[in-house]
Amino acid sequence: MDVLVTGGAGFIGSHVVDALVAGGHQVTVVDNLSTGKRANLSTEVTLMEVDLRSDDLDAVLQRVRPQAVFHLAAQASVPHSVADPAGDAEINVLGTINLLERCRSAGVRRVVYSSTGGALYGEPEQIPCTEGHAIRPLSPYGLSKYVAERYVEMYGRLHGLEYAILRYANVYGPRQDPFGEAGVVSIFGQRMVNGEDIVVFGDGTQERDFVYVEDVARANLLALERGGGQALNIGCGVGTSVNDLVARLRQATGYEKEPTYTEPRAGDVYRIALDASRAGRELGWEPKVSLEEGLRRTVASIRDRSL
Ligand SMILES: NC(=O)c1ccc[n+]([C@@H]2O[C@H](COP(=O)([O-])OP(=O)(O)OC[C@H]3O[C@@H](n4cnc5c(N)ncnc54)[C@H](O)[C@@H]3O)[C@@H](O)[C@H]2O)c1
Repeated sequence: MDVLVTGGAGFIGSHVVDALVAGGHQVTVVDNLSTGKRANLSTEVTLMEVDLRSDDLDAVLQRVRPQAVFHLAAQASVPHSVADPAGDAEINVLGTINLLERCRSAGVRRVVYSSTGGALYGEPEQIPCTEGHAIRPLSPYGLSKYVAERYVEMYGRLHGLEYAILRYANVYGPRQDPFGEAGVVSIFGQRMVNGEDIVVFGDGTQERDFVYVEDVARANLLALERGGGQALNIGCGVGTSVNDLVARLRQATGYEKEPTYTEPRAGDVYRIALDASRAGRELGWEPKVSLEEGLRRTVASIRDRSL
């Protein structure tokens, strides 16, 4: 199939691209390289350096005429969204609408939208949290990702666009950038490998549901044919505290220093884990890589990169 991946030069997007290429699909990537890197992509993949908000997106879609679009390009940082909510909405909401309009005129059959499960339910009333939970985002990022979901759904209703919405837990794995606003695994992993100090926001008892990036990429591939017309949580269903994560990473890296603790960050939830049983039923998806194995692979890739 001819497919387009927005944000394909980023962390998760590049793993989705790898999985699509391995599945025999013809892949074109649209990415403005704001956080993504050309080096994340293999040479057989065409990269169009185009912004999601730009009129040039039309020419790309008309040229490629993809049957399916995987939409991952986003402003993906909670703190940035708190500092610049309008900038966040411009990319995540208006950029998504621009893409959907171009998809409509280019006759795209299906959109698989990467959303968040970690940032849109707020503090969950029950854990693991199902898709039916109230939507109460604690950050502009959580809100903009949810608004974009509703636009995807609207294009389904108005124009018959097929869609699947994947709501990820905390994704981790190789290629996650440790230098920006990346996930805690890549930041701590990189700092521990370098023997640098680590700082924990809050007291470290906050819990996250860590899901390995290749499991997330596999969910995207499955969503090409299945699980249409709904939102699906993609997570492992168990919370791991940041203190527990630090202990596991210390073991994997041999790091000996103690972390220091500072104020919790605005916009972060305290405790979350996602119930992915709907994805099990609808996609036949379940996570395959354990946290222990995923951390081992991630630390190995950080060590490779540091050589
Ligand atoms: N990392 C996680 O734990 C997580 C959790 C839930 C949801 N998500 C979602 O998954 C997707 C990918 O996130 P990621 O962690 O790989 O982040 P990332 O920053 O590595 O990837 C985002 C990609 O989008 C590109 N991009 C950003 N703005 C763009 C624009 N205006 N035009 C074109 N390209 C643009 C970036 O260059 C980058 O390659 C995002 O939609 C994010 O909201 C991520």
